[in-house]
Amino acid sequence: MVTNLLAQFSSTKPVRGNVAGVLPIDMDSRMELVSNEWVVMDKEPTWPTAVNELLLSIVQERVHMDNLLQRGIEPTKSALFVGPPGVGKTLAARWLSFKLGRPLVTMDLASVMSSYLGRTGNNIRAVIQYGQETPSVLLLDEFDAVAKRRGDDSEVGELKRLVTVLLQTIDRWPATGLLLAATNHPDLLDPAIWRRFDRIIEFPVPSREVIEPFIKGLFDADDTINSWGEWISILAIALGGSSFSDISRFVNNARRESVINERPILEVLESDVHSLLRHSDKALRLTVAQNLLQAGFSQRRVAQITSLARDTVRRHAINDAQERNE
Ligand SMILES: Nc1ncnc2c1ncn2[C@@H]1O[C@H](COP(=O)(O)OP(=O)(O)OP(=O)(O)O)[C@@H](O)[C@H]1O
Ligand SMILES: [Mg+2]
Repeated sequence: MVTNLLAQFSSTKPVRGNVAGVLPIDMDSRMELVSNEWVVMDKEPTWPTAVNELLLSIVQERVHMDNLLQRGIEPTKSALFVGPPGVGKTLAARWLSFKLGRPLVTMDLASVMSSYLGRTGNNIRAVIQYGQETPSVLLLDEFDAVAKRRGDDSEVGELKRLVTVLLQTIDRWPATGLLLAATNHPDLLDPAIWRRFDRIIEFPVPSREVIEPFIKGLFDADDTINSWGEWISILAIALGGSSFSDISRFVNNARRESVINERPILEVLESDVHSLLRHSDKALRLTVAQNLLQAGFSQRRVAQITSLARDTVRRHAINDAQERNE
């Protein structure tokens, strides 16, 4: 069970009920521009160490907010989450919102960028105002959508104004709130925007150490996993370099197949790993072989798992050993 740290602190205790006034809407379509949710999480995510430290410090600063403010220091008011798809950026925003006992207000910038930029600007301004007036965590998802927009000459002015609004928004965000932005394409963002955020958190693809507990977590009450032995490591190595989304899709497809075809889950996973590797290019299989060798698997076993010839694995092991001795 995950604890909601801040609920114990009276000054920051969440006020349930009506979160705020009316949600901002698009004037033409009458669609709501944001989603607003009280997040409840019953499972602790598995964060990479560096991400964990940064996220925890944002929470801790809120716990000690009165202390900080008394000394004239503001807690982190804004953070930019950067990383490839499916590595936990949105989940981290949900987690923070839960830990802080604040509703999560999300605006997906990609979906509010309408063809008429003037209207987009008004929509974004409305959401920002709503976020500032509501004690909440505001997430601007797909933050690069503004930067991606290639305006024609008539739009350049409006686009510039929009970026200026965003810059001022980050600068002036109230300490009572938390402004988060997430992007897969940090390279598209104006460096001036980058600099404005109090913190930049980079989400890496999960490492083997994170993948193992993540896979175990996907099996929850299913204790067959305890008898998997070496297979949990093999899976974590074979799925190295994949995002959390890809890993959970892989595992959940196997679970479905196991139920429908009444086959033991481990048997399905084994054959899925074999098939995944058989259909991967040789360079990837060699990397997996190398990682398996480094994890202590025998050459025979590595050849079996990766469908590489024994000789290839042996040569690889020798090269690897030589490189390490050099
Ligand atoms: N650290 C983690 N621990 C457990 N599950 C995770 C973790 N990170 C991501 N997941 C799971 O992986 C999936 C994708 O995560 P999320 O939506 O947060 O990715 P994202 O980085 O926001 O991707 P995108 O850039 O595509 O929006 C979700 O189902 C989420 O629950
Ligand atoms: Mg996301």
